[in-house]
Amino acid sequence: MAELLQIALPKGRLGEKVYRMFAAAGFECPEALEDTRKLIFENPAAGVCYFWVKPSDVAIYVERGAADIGVVGKDVLMEYRPEVFELLDLKTGVCRLAVAGKKDFRDYTGHTLRVATKFPNITMEYYRQKCRDIDIIKLNGSIELAPILGLSDVILDIVETGKTLYENNLEPFETVAPVSARLVANCAAYQFKYQAISRVLSGLREQVEAVK
Ligand code: PRP
Repeated sequence: MAELLQIALPKGRLGEKVYRMFAAAGFECPEALEDTRKLIFENPAAGVCYFWVKPSDVAIYVERGAADIGVVGKDVLMEYRPEVFELLDLKTGVCRLAVAGKKDFRDYTGHTLRVATKFPNITMEYYRQKCRDIDIIKLNGSIELAPILGLSDVILDIVETGKTLYENNLEPFETVAPVSARLVANCAAYQFKYQAISRVLSGLREQVEAVK
């Protein structure tokens, strides 16, 4: 029997949406959506094996070849720059990276801007291009709290609906980059499992086109 294609999907709402795209493309494995503590799900008939991992870990599994392909946000690819092939924009999980802060915040260039973020590399690069002196405050979640409590002047974070900013009296000031989910492949697997990966790629491409 041919080896199964190992696919890392991000846990959570985005991952479920993406799994449904794989299923609609002919690579289903219904057990993957069951409410269980199991981590790995195989469907030998479809030639696939799925596993759910933390969204920010997908790229690590794919880069190191524990997964042949995976789905990861463009934000993660920009932040960690893993050595993987980016094969397809799945046009789902659409959001943006933005700089935001308190509505009454007025920047002046004479001081070091304190920026709270989960994305220190993206932040560094963004302000380097603007030749702006910054102090990065690396947080792991609830970034919006930082300007409210005076921990930072602004944040650089994901904005999807804008609800979190709005409900906390914050406002987006600048868009840094658009973000969406991407299909990525391990570089070696892309050669050795080219046919299997190509089948998934064209199936998913059809799904993306279908919702246009
Ligand atoms: C993300 C992001 C914002 C929020 C934006 O947080 O960091 O906080 O979603 O979404 P919205 O514009 O639709 O309100 P996440 O839910 O991943 O949790 P976190 O704060 O723990 O990072």
